[in-house]
Amino acid sequence: MLNLQSATHERWLGQVGEHLDQILIDHAHCEKKAAGTAMNLFFAYVEDQDLCQAMTEIVNEELAHFHLVIDLLNRRGIRFRRQTPSQYGRRLNDLVRKQEPQRAVDKLLVAGLIEARSCERFDLLRKHIQDRELADFYDSLFESEARHHSTYVRLAKHYASDEVVHARLKELAAEEARIIGEGEDLPRMHS
Ligand SMILES: [Fe+2]
Ligand SMILES: [Fe+2]
Repeated sequence: MLNLQSATHERWLGQVGEHLDQILIDHAHCEKKAAGTAMNLFFAYVEDQDLCQAMTEIVNEELAHFHLVIDLLNRRGIRFRRQTPSQYGRRLNDLVRKQEPQRAVDKLLVAGLIEARSCERFDLLRKHIQDRELADFYDSLFESEARHHSTYVRLAKHYASDEVVHARLKELAAEEARIIGEGEDLPRMHS
C-alpha cells in the first residue's frame, strides 16, 4: 500500500527511546515542511485544478498536525526550537529531474515517499511506544499520512502514464530504501 521497499531498522526505535524530545521537535518540523511542500506544489502547478484542490487540503491538514505536535510539546514542557535536520529530505529531493514533466512526476513521488515513510514510522511508534498518549497520537495521524501518500501518487499520473509513474516510483523507492537504510547519528523522524 505504501510502496516502500524496506522496513525501518530496530536501530531507529533505539534512537527514539533515548532521544524522544528531539524526535518530537523534529516531528513538528516535518509537519511544517509537509505543509510547505504542498504549498510549493500548489504554486508550481497552479493550472492543475485537481492538484490545487488536493494541495490546499493537504496544507491545511499538515498545519493542523503541526499545531497538534506543538500542543503536545507544550503539555510536556518541551520548547520548540530549531534543530539540524536529517539529510533524508534533501537527499531525496536531489533525485528530482530538472525537465518538465519529469520534474512534476518526481516531486510528487518524492513527496509521496516521504509521507509513506512517516506513515510506516507512525505505525511502529503506535505499536512500540509505552507512553499511551503518544501511541494514541501516532495512531490518530497514521490514516491521513497514508492518504496523502496515495494522493501524491495519483497526482503524478497527471504528468506521465500509469506505467511510467509506477516504474519511476519503484526506482525512487529503491533509492529511498538505500538512503534511510544508511541511517544517521542525529535522532530524527527520518534518521
Ligand atoms: Fe502530517
Ligand atoms: Fe502528510
